[in-house]
Amino acid sequence: HPPVSQMEETSLLRRANCRSKGGASGFKVAILGAAGGIGQPLALLMKMNPLVSVLHLYDVVNAPGVTADISHMNTGAVVRGFLGQPQLEDALAGMDLVVIPAGVPRKPGMTRDDLFNINAGIVKTLCEGIVKCCPKAVVNLISNPVNSTVPIAAEVFKKAGTYDSKRLLGVTMLDVVRANTFVAEVLGIDPRDVNVPVVGGHAGVTILPLLSQVNPPCSFTPEEISYLTDRIQNGGTEVVEAKAGAGSATLSMGLRGDAGVVECSFVASQVTELPFFASKVRLGRCGVEEVLPLGPLNEFERARLEKAKKELAVSIQKGVSFIRK
Ligand code: NAI
Repeated sequence: HPPVSQMEETSLLRRANCRSKGGASGFKVAILGAAGGIGQPLALLMKMNPLVSVLHLYDVVNAPGVTADISHMNTGAVVRGFLGQPQLEDALAGMDLVVIPAGVPRKPGMTRDDLFNINAGIVKTLCEGIVKCCPKAVVNLISNPVNSTVPIAAEVFKKAGTYDSKRLLGVTMLDVVRANTFVAEVLGIDPRDVNVPVVGGHAGVTILPLLSQVNPPCSFTPEEISYLTDRIQNGGTEVVEAKAGAGSATLSMGLRGDAGVVECSFVASQVTELPFFASKVRLGRCGVEEVLPLGPLNEFERARLEKAKKELAVSIQKGVSFIRK
């Protein structure tokens, strides 16, 4: 693989294995779409993560450049780059975690659903690679529309007989990050001290912040609730418009690799009648350990939930039909 010679690689691996805190040999992580706006900072965070021993960076453009750059960081993980479809299988072989930010982002005026036609096919192909090379990997899907790409991935895995709902997660953490920031602004406190559950899905009205369950407990005026709900639902659009065609949100994205963490994520779920739903989930080494219930909702949230479910049902079905058609 381009950036490291065989000898260098052996010594790097030895070093990674003794330094890594992620178990005997650490986590092996692949990022698909690693040269993009999300992929690059994500690669940097993964390279800094002491739980990661091997980091594979795959993209259809610029993967060798990003790999050379990231590989110079003085942290333990061994970095290898993979360019284009012929190298996809090598990129995936033996991976424990595959994170997928591959695909196109929104431009001003676009909804996440407008990305379906391009990103659905990309996600399908990448998931077929996972089936073949690392069917037991935990898969984190970032590519939009998450409300449809997660069902697409599930269908690809089901078709191949490798589906494990615990190992497939749609990344919606950005909605929580935004909610924490905006709520902290209203409350005049440090955003690090705020935790807002955000449930439903990852697009427009399907993004449902549960402002009645904010930690620390607090109350809002009806005006504040309507301002915060709208701002959290449209946080992504705010960034897309501010970047004016140069991309969507990338810098506020993050991912955690710790065990025993509770985060909101879009997963296979029995929390509602829908097959997939974002809510708090307890994460472990193998993915989802427990999907937590919604908790008590107030009247405003119950009404918004019905609206969210309507749109979500359509997006899920669209993803399922894309594979079953
Ligand atoms: P970007 O355009 O900067 O990067 C996407 C990367 O994917 C590019 O490097 C591109 O070459 C690569 N790519 C395209 N087709 C590929 C393929 N077949 N295989 C491998 N790589 C491929 O876009 P950005 O800003 O990084 O966004 C990526 C995706 O993440 C978009 O769909 C965006 O809507 C979504 N997103 C999701 C968020 C979430 O919270 N879940 C937040 C922000 C963006």
